[in-house]
Amino acid sequence: MKIRTQAKQIVLKGGTLFDPLRQTLETGDVFIQDGKIKAVGKIAGPEGAEIIDCTGLIVTHGFCDPHVHFREPGREDKETLKTGANAALAGGFTRVCVMPNTDPPLDSPESIRFVLEKSAELPVHIHPIGAITKGQLGREISEMGAMQFEGAVAFSDDGIPVANGQVMRLALEYSRMVGMPIINHAEDPMIRNEGVMNEGIVSTRLGLPGNPDVAESVMVHRDLELAQLTNAKIHVPHVSTAKAVHHIRQFKNDTSLALTAEVTPHHLYFIDEALSSFNTNLKVAPPIRSEKDRLALIEAVKDGTIDCIATDHAPHTIEEKEATFDLAPFGLIGLESCFGAVNKILGQQSGLSLKTILTLLTLRPRKIMGFETDLFAEGCEAELVVLAADEEWVFGENDIFSRSRNTPFLGETLVGKPRYTIAKGSVAEIG
Ligand code: DOR
Repeated sequence: MKIRTQAKQIVLKGGTLFDPLRQTLETGDVFIQDGKIKAVGKIAGPEGAEIIDCTGLIVTHGFCDPHVHFREPGREDKETLKTGANAALAGGFTRVCVMPNTDPPLDSPESIRFVLEKSAELPVHIHPIGAITKGQLGREISEMGAMQFEGAVAFSDDGIPVANGQVMRLALEYSRMVGMPIINHAEDPMIRNEGVMNEGIVSTRLGLPGNPDVAESVMVHRDLELAQLTNAKIHVPHVSTAKAVHHIRQFKNDTSLALTAEVTPHHLYFIDEALSSFNTNLKVAPPIRSEKDRLALIEAVKDGTIDCIATDHAPHTIEEKEATFDLAPFGLIGLESCFGAVNKILGQQSGLSLKTILTLLTLRPRKIMGFETDLFAEGCEAELVVLAADEEWVFGENDIFSRSRNTPFLGETLVGKPRYTIAKGSVAEIG
């Protein structure tokens, strides 16, 4: 991948333009001047502009990920804001929201400012999510108003569930005052117990402690009832079970509820059988589930119960991941492989249209997080991705730009590859 400063004038020539806001798909050009959209349609000239040939390629809004873990501050050996931004560019992402489980956690206005200042010059928009509780300890609500003032876009203790229902209720009440979503990592810690993988026939066969599906669904149900009680915005992260899907679907019947949900590429792609190899890169929280759960997730995307895709990109060192399965940390990286994995499962294998898949990666997460959605408008910053949507490719080490390597997608044939990612005055040529 080559990242360079944009030429003063660029024309993305002859691509198929997909506007997720208007749901239009048509052949055309995009003229970018000084990093901003100048015109969209049939563009003649201008003299001297850089031409990027987009024949046979899709040009659309840059992907937006509402859920990644970059490890700065504290674990820069796993990922920095800069290396995380590179992984994002390689995956076609122009905007990401970073979770606050850093060291120390992002639980104060100063820490929010730190992330924004540190990422100001990076070629990807990075939005910090503030911690729900001070120190992510699950006890005292953090200074939500002050963090919002500094630029936090949501609140979450992700990685750690808010176990105490009263704390969750208060968090929802306070978040309502600032109008931002609460994103709770829904896994009841007592029910999850020491589980390291999905509880079922496979965990029994492998002799690994199981984490039952109800650990997730019980807490999702609690959270949705509390959101209804408090009238707050709730976004359910990394839904992994058919039972949680069922609850979300039911609660979405209450149209006054501001409820949204996300699914990860890995929960759509893998099932617990794959853990038979004891590949620690498949150890993730919530765990990779059964085929029944996976099919329920696909169905939930199809009927709109699930609103968007989020990678939950969670880098860990090789040393940590080379431990035995029970000792290795939870998490896998997912930015670079996201589009190819999701497009393969939802598009090629499940018949969803490319329009729908791209909407799950662009418009929907932007709406949930309150970002600009009219990215083809004249004067808007050019924040685009150019995709070879049908290209089949094998995901390899050379496709990784994260500082970490903990991905279960190595060697997998994926469908669809980002070619160029354009944002913040830069162009990343992915190759
Ligand atoms: O597997 C996970 N790893 N799930 C999370 O929610 C947190 C993440 C991490 O930070 O490593």
